[in-house]
Amino acid sequence: MLFSAKIDLAKRMIEPHTKHNVVRLSALKEYFNDQVEVERMINSLGDLVVYEYFENSFGDEEENVNFGLTVLYPGKVGREYFLTRGHFHEKRAAEIYIGLEGEGVILMQSEDGKVEWRPLEPNTVVYVPPGWGHRTINTGNQRLTFFFAYPSDAGHDYEIVRRKGFAKLVVEENGRPVLIDNPKYRT
Ligand code: F6R
Ligand code: ZN
Repeated sequence: MLFSAKIDLAKRMIEPHTKHNVVRLSALKEYFNDQVEVERMINSLGDLVVYEYFENSFGDEEENVNFGLTVLYPGKVGREYFLTRGHFHEKRAAEIYIGLEGEGVILMQSEDGKVEWRPLEPNTVVYVPPGWGHRTINTGNQRLTFFFAYPSDAGHDYEIVRRKGFAKLVVEENGRPVLIDNPKYRT
């Protein structure tokens, strides 16, 4: 039985954890707007790690809460900041994110296409309501680290994001993050 865990920001991890996923540029090709630029970056810089996450997951037992730590590294593909794939929970479960270091945003989208974005930075708690898809974006020049917790039976639907994307993109304009329409978004 698990009663506590330790976040180590210097080592960028949470101990103990049952799962550690590392996500590289090549796995994100379809999630960035400019796929040609992703390919070019892989060829010139290598298959960079964009983010990694450590999780304590309890299978799909509905009484439990999965939790962990995500570390999203700084970078851009063209003007688009490094991002997580993003997903909807299969069971319309809510989720809590708590910013620990770095500067970023969380982009949320309802099932009927409404979009909200909020800062994700130290001492900020973000509540992702049930039914809202979510993706995090690192808009700073250091790593973005955050804690997350969600019901263990929530499930993850990545396919809908891979096929349709989010309605908005977060890109750099004059050194600042702005939200623009995603030209490739399909409703
Ligand atoms: C879990 C959750 C986060 C993300 C993690 C990686 O429901 O929202 O733990 O899983 O930040 O992002 P994805 O899952 O979109 O690759
Ligand atoms: Zn989630």
